Amino acid sequence: MANRIKIAPSILSADFARLGEEIRAIDEQGCDWVHVDVMDGHFVPNITFGPGVCAAIRPHIKGVMDVHLMIAPADAYLEAFAKAGADIITIHAEAGPHLDRSLQYIRSLGAKAGVALNPATPPEAIEYVIDRIDLVCVMTVNPGFGGQSFIDGQLAKIARLAEIIGEREIHIEIDGGVTPETAGNCAAMGADVLVAGSAVFKGGSVAKPEVYGANIRALREAAAAAL
Ligand code: DX5
Ligand code: ZN
Repeated sequence: MANRIKIAPSILSADFARLGEEIRAIDEQGCDWVHVDVMDGHFVPNITFGPGVCAAIRPHIKGVMDVHLMIAPADAYLEAFAKAGADIITIHAEAGPHLDRSLQYIRSLGAKAGVALNPATPPEAIEYVIDRIDLVCVMTVNPGFGGQSFIDGQLAKIARLAEIIGEREIHIEIDGGVTPETAGNCAAMGADVLVAGSAVFKGGSVAKPEVYGANIRALREAAAAAL
């Protein structure tokens, strides 16, 4: 896949009381996608928001709304997230027994389909569903919380996924612990979408949006320098 790196801030690190303004700020400061972390307190040990919040923030997002579902089961909620305006819906390979069916269902709802892999899940998990996906999300932390440290052992998985994917139009997205220190290695291994929560929102606010801009640029430059 073409290697123009996309930066996808995770609004998990935004001020939840001002989501609309926060999203407009990161959009204006040059982010590519907006990453929305949906957690159910069951698949992961934390709870965030559901389709109602996604629908409410959708009008504030200029580009791609990238919805990462950390929920199990997911199937019963997929239609609601598609209706809320998700452009990409990513489900976890570990979250249900019928990954192939769930991915077909996402596409039938008009969204792009993604598969996320927990750190212990091998890259080959996508091999037999590869024609049904638009994105693979490599979890470089154990999902549930922002601000965790990048697991270096996942770099080999990124490289292996790039090999499996070859010339197909499938994004390789990295999620967890992405900072200017770790972004370069991710890009060098073949990632083209970098999710970052803490590293984008750190030090900024809707009153100081230029900090978001500087943080986004730092990630983009670190990734570009490694290519
Ligand atoms: C983790 C989430 C991530 C998280 C990233 O469960 O899926 O998107 O918000 O946060 P940072 O960039 O702070 O590791
Ligand atoms: Zn995420």
